[in-house]
Amino acid sequence: MQLIRREPQTSMAGGTRSRCPVLLLLLLGVTTARLASGVVTDGLLPNGNFELGPAKSDLNGTRVMNQNSVPNWEIFGFVEYIGSGQKQDDMILAVPEGACAVRLGNDATIRQKLEVIRKTTYSITFCAARTCAQAERLNVSVAAESGVLPIQTVYTSSGWDSYAYAFRARHSTAWFSIHNPGHEDNPACGPLIDFIAIKALNPPPLAQGNMLRNGDFEEGPFIFPDTAWGVLVPPMSEDDVSPLPGWMVMSDTKVVKYVDAAHHAVPRGARAVELVAGREAALVQDVRTVPGRRYRLSLSVGDAANGCEGPMAVEAYAARATLRTTYESLGKGGSRRAAVEFEATANLTRVVLQSYNHHMKPDGTLCGPVVDDVSLVGLR
Ligand SMILES: *[C@@H]1O[C@H](CO)[C@@H](O)[C@H](O)[C@H]1NC(C)=O
Ligand SMILES: *[C@@H]1O[C@H](CO)[C@@H](O)[C@H](O)[C@H]1NC(C)=O
Ligand SMILES: *[C@@H]1O[C@H](CO)[C@@H](O)[C@H](O)[C@H]1NC(C)=O
Repeated sequence: MQLIRREPQTSMAGGTRSRCPVLLLLLLGVTTARLASGVVTDGLLPNGNFELGPAKSDLNGTRVMNQNSVPNWEIFGFVEYIGSGQKQDDMILAVPEGACAVRLGNDATIRQKLEVIRKTTYSITFCAARTCAQAERLNVSVAAESGVLPIQTVYTSSGWDSYAYAFRARHSTAWFSIHNPGHEDNPACGPLIDFIAIKALNPPPLAQGNMLRNGDFEEGPFIFPDTAWGVLVPPMSEDDVSPLPGWMVMSDTKVVKYVDAAHHAVPRGARAVELVAGREAALVQDVRTVPGRRYRLSLSVGDAANGCEGPMAVEAYAARATLRTTYESLGKGGSRRAAVEFEATANLTRVVLQSYNHHMKPDGTLCGPVVDDVSLVGLR
């Protein structure tokens, strides 16, 4: 399936449900199956790629005129239904999956009611692209919980990034919504959204001989098999549910990137984290320790084979110790392991991982070292 379509300009005046005829049949099957089984399953949400669009009579140009006209979704405010290749000013809007996406104008919202399993933690992954404003934001909410995801920095040359959000289900249904809180002069400004998927997260059991949870990052948000750019995990506060179980991302507005072995080099297993924001974002985990006892912290540092070249360094902090791991990246994959021993000074020790520098790929997008297999063991 082609991901980034740069089709010649097409008019959306004919934007009817038949715009995406091939996927239409396919997805009707998927949607029916989902509805029959009720509870969401891992993967695309029903019509999570918006290939099923409004009837022509529910569109004025690209604007969706009726709250219920995008199948499986409810919309509020200025929402547009966009076909790939549509032009806005000088920019061609490419759509990452299939041929259609929605754009959220000022104060617009899309939402879908999810049937979930109570007390289960879910992550949601969606693709978004910024359009006019430099500092667009999206307010993602599920039931009463919400988080504002900054989408000011773009980490791909296509302009599309995938973002992760997580929540714990309190009831068996939950409204999931994405709202654009922006107020631009041009009502057609605002982020494009496409391709929304869900995944139930398992609480990672403590691995034998590792006091850190999910130290190998194998558990984390859904990564679309057809997207090659990983998933951005946004900053969160201590009370938020993390899409990367065990770990917190601490930053004002920056992210870390969750990458998969299908499209990147990862030091071990199927998943790892690329530190794409230099010292502006940290990966953090608190672990119970015994004051005065000695521990060894070790990790793998490498590169994702995504063309991110140059001298790299990852700094890890625990109690009073700093472990600085340097790594010379050729941008072709590879990693090395490093370790440090330290004495705990408190009941709780915070392990912090950071990239020492910012790095950029030849295409101008931000990148950085990859960390994996972080482990903490008590010494005698
Ligand atoms: C469609 O949009 C145009 C321009 O915004 C507006 O003038 C017109 O009244 C709209 N038509 C309908 C049926 O709402
Ligand atoms: C985000 O959305 C939630 C739920 O709709 C709302 O309670 C919250 O105030 C919003 N936050 C911002 C910053 O818009
Ligand atoms: C560690 O925890 C124990 C009991 O939970 C408490 O009495 C003690 O003060 C704590 N020590 C530190 C250094 O926080």
